[in-house]
Amino acid sequence: MTTPLNSSGLRGQVAGQTALCSVGAQGHELRYRGYDINDLAEHSSFEEVAYLLLRGKLPTRAELTAYQQHLKQVQALPEAVLAILRLLPASAHPMDVLRTGCSALGNYLPESSFADQLEHADRLMATAPAMLVYWYRYSHDGVTVDLQTDDASLGSYFLHLLHDKVAPELFQKVMQVSLILYAEHEFNASTFAARVCASTLSDLYSCVVAAIGTLRGPLHGGANEGAMALIQSCENADHAEQVLLEKLARKEKIMGFGHAVYRDCDPRNAIIRVYAKRLAEASGDDRLYRISERIEAVMWREKKMFANADFYHASAYHALGIPTQLFTPIFVIARISGWCAHIVEQRANNRIIRPSAEYIGPEAQAWIPLSARDA
Ligand code: COA
Repeated sequence: MTTPLNSSGLRGQVAGQTALCSVGAQGHELRYRGYDINDLAEHSSFEEVAYLLLRGKLPTRAELTAYQQHLKQVQALPEAVLAILRLLPASAHPMDVLRTGCSALGNYLPESSFADQLEHADRLMATAPAMLVYWYRYSHDGVTVDLQTDDASLGSYFLHLLHDKVAPELFQKVMQVSLILYAEHEFNASTFAARVCASTLSDLYSCVVAAIGTLRGPLHGGANEGAMALIQSCENADHAEQVLLEKLARKEKIMGFGHAVYRDCDPRNAIIRVYAKRLAEASGDDRLYRISERIEAVMWREKKMFANADFYHASAYHALGIPTQLFTPIFVIARISGWCAHIVEQRANNRIIRPSAEYIGPEAQAWIPLSARDA
């Protein structure tokens, strides 16, 4: 049976070429420019991975040091952008705040030529944690955070700004790994939105704004927040099993499970699960982790469905002391690297993306004058 085009979601269609990332080969692999995600998460820093995606190769030690220094140099936000962030209410959705912050930056430091595209990509990536936490702490705690720190990595910088202190080593490592896992994922919806925008030869900020707006939807970026809501609603592992069985009986979708491309497992899940466990053990409170484990086991037993990257991110981020509403925006901080690498790739071999539609409206109709339409 063929799937009607209007409900196929273009699943399985090859919509272009990329050298950046391969997803789901043998049902479960993820590679960035040929490097396995397990190796990158274990051995690399996020900045190495961002360099790999944006510059095409892993940096040497000297190149990495220079890149980290460069990211620090472009980390300052123009005062006008900070003023705009201060105007946004505490009730704003943090994804909308990032969308506005990105757009504002594009007004004050516009991309006037593609020659500087990597410079703009670096600045956007380096300033995203500051945009988010500056607004969050100003609107929620009345605190104007000092955005200058010595943190060499973006994940540590984010935690430092959020908690006003240097994060413990384990927390920094988890952020490092998390940003790597979220950095890139081939032609997912938000990346495709960025590439469509790039294909019109629009500026980099417009492309990233389109991507943030696309990631914001609950079927894409919001699943780790949904997973957190489920996990927190359970008192213990037995209660979690009962809650889950009731939800499945009502045919509800369980956030953090299933995937459009992977068939056997999401390789990012096994990686973040280890860190969620380590964080639980280190804190001496493994309640949320044990609830998560039971939900994962029951989903497999009942539906043969595996947890995706978002599921264990929920308890991991919670253990890092990150408010739930900031979960999806962390995805943005990481994915700016992947989005921008795709924008660069699209521009390098561009043709405007303009598919065709199957017309299903009425056949040719005779024109009816306005005066004759009341009859
Ligand atoms: N919980 C329960 N059932 C699920 C499910 C989930 N998380 N995800 C898919 N299913 C079921 C669907 O209800 C459907 O069942 P049906 O055939 O009886 O109608 C079947 O599995 C196929 O699902 P479908 O939504 O068509 O798969 P998809 O490939 O279009 O969508 C996702 C993939 C990721 C959007 C989907 O699995 C989902 O919504 N997951 C939850 C959100 C999430 O975690 N997103 C983050 C992805 S990294």
